[in-house]
Formats: sequence, structure tokens, C-alpha cells
Amino acid sequence: MSDTNRLDGKIIIITGAAGAIGAAAARVMLARGATVVAVDYSADALAKLAKELGAGDKLVTLTADVSDEAAVKAYVDETVKRFGRIDAFFNNAGIEGETHPIPDYPLAAFQKVLAVNVVGVFLGMKYVIPVMAKAGKGSIINTSSVAGLSGSPNMVAYNTSKHAVIGLMRVAAVEWGAKGIRVNTINPGPIESRMMDSLDSTRAANADAIRKATEAAIPAGRYGKPEEVAALAAFLASDNASYINGGIHTVDGGLTAG
Ligand SMILES: NC(=O)c1ccc[n+]([C@@H]2O[C@H](COP(=O)([O-])OP(=O)(O)OC[C@H]3O[C@@H](n4cnc5c(N)ncnc54)[C@H](O)[C@@H]3O)[C@@H](O)[C@H]2O)c1
Repeated sequence: MSDTNRLDGKIIIITGAAGAIGAAAARVMLARGATVVAVDYSADALAKLAKELGAGDKLVTLTADVSDEAAVKAYVDETVKRFGRIDAFFNNAGIEGETHPIPDYPLAAFQKVLAVNVVGVFLGMKYVIPVMAKAGKGSIINTSSVAGLSGSPNMVAYNTSKHAVIGLMRVAAVEWGAKGIRVNTINPGPIESRMMDSLDSTRAANADAIRKATEAAIPAGRYGKPEEVAALAAFLASDNASYINGGIHTVDGGLTAG
């Protein structure tokens, strides 16, 4: 029997591929046999990633701003030109934005977070879905967050955006499930990463104290690792997840169970 967790021959686009979770996903997906198209805003970070991964022609790097429609169309068109199809799409790029109480939250800062985290996720699906529909199959994994399941003080833009990612996923799952496209969200809790370090340092004067308090609220007693999120994304991209559509999948050490 073949190992359906493998990703041999699959063409997978990852956005935000140069970040903590995206890079970990690229690593595990390549290790399971996929060809990865790594999309990120930062050309320098993509060059560094390609050097680190040393995957040769199994890794293609494309620079794009996911909130720019022409750039999204271009990374999808380039993938189709090179490979003729897209088997899985890890729609993962996101930013944390600024932290302020609602009355102090600048509109421009709010709109910037929505542009990347919501419009970017929408545009990715807008251009990837027709390619998958033509093939009659595909898996889309949108990165939401535990911030998409509850409110956090001072994080109105981020939490709003991550709730919206669940809405985008649900519409796509019911709209395209009959065409063989599965669409899910992954909802990480706090992960060891630049993003979490940045949030911890802006959420409170004492970043160590807020981290300790957060860890104490997590049944696992610690932050997760990017690899632990990547493992879930790789599973959802695989044929092992063939009946999983429209789901919200937490990877949070039990944080949201309480
Ligand atoms: N780190 C966490 O604790 C955590 C928890 C829950 C959810 N998430 C979500 O996981 C995803 C990845 O987070 P991460 O921790 O790897 O963050 P990260 O900052 O390490 O990586 C994000 C990547 O996205 C890229 N990016 C940002 N804006 C972009 C744009 N407009 N176009 C293209 N690329 C852009 C950045 O260059 C970066 O490489 C995000 O959606 C984030 O909201 C992270």
C-alpha cells in the first residue's frame, strides 16, 4: 500500500514561504516529495531560504505581494506555465500589524492588516481555484489562528482578519467541494517565531512575563514549534486528508480547549 501521507509529484504553492511557518512547511513538503513554489514579499529572505533548503529544481521562488492582484495572478500563472497544475495551496502569508486599543487603532494600520491577511487570502483563492477546478482536485490550506476564534485585547485588526479567514474558507469549501477542492483553515496558537516575539514585546512592558502567563494557559505548557504547524499543513495537503473539507484545525497545545 502506498503511503498517502507522501506528497510525491505534488505541486504546492506556499505564500509567506520565507517566514517561520512557511519555511518549515516548505522543508517538510519537500522532504515528502513535493515540488514547492515558494512565494514571499521578501526576495532576500527567499534567496536565503533557497540556499538553506538546497532543493534544486524542486523549489521555485517567486517574489510577490499577496495583496496585489496583478502579483497574485502572476505567481499563479507562472506556476501553471512551469508545471501545468497546482495540487495544494498553503495560503499562509500574514502580518500581525500594530497593537492598540480600538479607539487608538489607526485606520491605515487596520486596513494594512486586512489587505494582507484577508484580501491576500481571497486573491490567492480567486486565482488558484480555477486551476484546481480544471483538474477536478486540490487542497487549499488557509492560515487563520487561535486569534480567529476569540478576541485578544489591542489586536483588533489581526483578530478580525483571522476570523475573516475562516469565513473565506467556509465559502470556498461549500462553493468548490463538489468540484473536488478541499478548503480548510489551520489555527495555530502561539508559535516560537519572530511574529510571537514581536507580539509579546508589544502586548506588555515585560515580554517574558506575558510569555510565561500565556504558556501557563496552554495545557502543553509551552509555545508550539513552526514544524508542528507545518506537519498539519502537510497532512492537509496530502491524500490522507481526502475527506477533510471545511474544517477549522487548531494546532495550539490545547489552548482553546479550555
Ligand atoms: N507565529 C505565530 O505564533 C502564529 C500563530 C498563529 C497564526 N500565525 C499565522 O501564520 C502565518 C505565518 O506566520 P509566521 O509566524 O511564519 O510569520 P512570519 O512573519 O515569520 O512570516 C510571514 C511571511 O509572510 C511574508 N509576507 C508578509 N506580508 C506579505 C505580503 N504582503 N506578500 C507576500 N508575503 C508577505 C513575510 O515576508 C514573511 O516571510 C501568518 O498568517 C500568521 O498570522 C502565526
